[in-house]
Amino acid sequence: MSIEMTQEQLKELEQQLSCPSGNNGKEVGKVMNESNIGMTRSAIQHSQFTTDSNVLEIGHGICGHLPELMQLIPHGRYTGIELSETMHQEAILLNQNFVREKRAAYILYDGVKLPFNNNSFDHAFTVNTIYFWKNPGAFLSEIHRVLKPNGKCVIAFAEKEFMQNLPFVGELFTAYDKASIQNLMGSTSFALTAYHQHTDDVKNKVGEKVKRLYAVVELTK
Ligand SMILES: C[S@@+](CC[C@H](N)C(=O)[O-])C[C@H]1O[C@@H](n2cnc3c(N)ncnc32)[C@H](O)[C@@H]1O
Repeated sequence: MSIEMTQEQLKELEQQLSCPSGNNGKEVGKVMNESNIGMTRSAIQHSQFTTDSNVLEIGHGICGHLPELMQLIPHGRYTGIELSETMHQEAILLNQNFVREKRAAYILYDGVKLPFNNNSFDHAFTVNTIYFWKNPGAFLSEIHRVLKPNGKCVIAFAEKEFMQNLPFVGELFTAYDKASIQNLMGSTSFALTAYHQHTDDVKNKVGEKVKRLYAVVELTK
């Protein structure tokens, strides 16, 4: 069933996807977690964590995937970083056991400068956030800086050919394809070590069933 949305509602949805806030943001966070879980699992799988990996996730949303991720790193540690205060609070609420045990930590920041020392993490990954990075080259330098030598960064995003047909995608989104990712990564100190393409079946945010083409990019420091 298709749900018609007004231009104003589509704008509000775009804003919520880029930085969920308030009660609507909580709802959007739940829907995102459900509809993006396949992409998140794929990013985690391509990350190839070891049991003691120190992992950073950028833009985790409500972070419903944390329990399954923690099973892969029983001797490791997870840090999630967000610019949405609503997602930050929701993730802590949902995963308070891991936070209490100090196996996971959630940090709120400005979305620009990662508040970590150089060479802190074995892995960084991020799902459906690259569209919103204001200065992607500078932000990738930040990720590179906080990764240990040989550290790995995995980025999952829906491909431009899928994104451009979504009614809520407006000026807050920058859509990427293989050529623009290769071009972007060429300007960083990362080596682009793999570009995987996958599809999954999802409902778009206005309720229609669609096939989503997405990419999972592996970068090595
Ligand atoms: C479309 S949602 C995706 C959430 C989740 N990763 C998923 O795929 O369901 C984008 C999320 O990334 C966050 N975000 C956007 N830019 C960010 C940045 N530069 N650093 C950290 N979080 C960011 C937003 O607040 C939002 O929660």
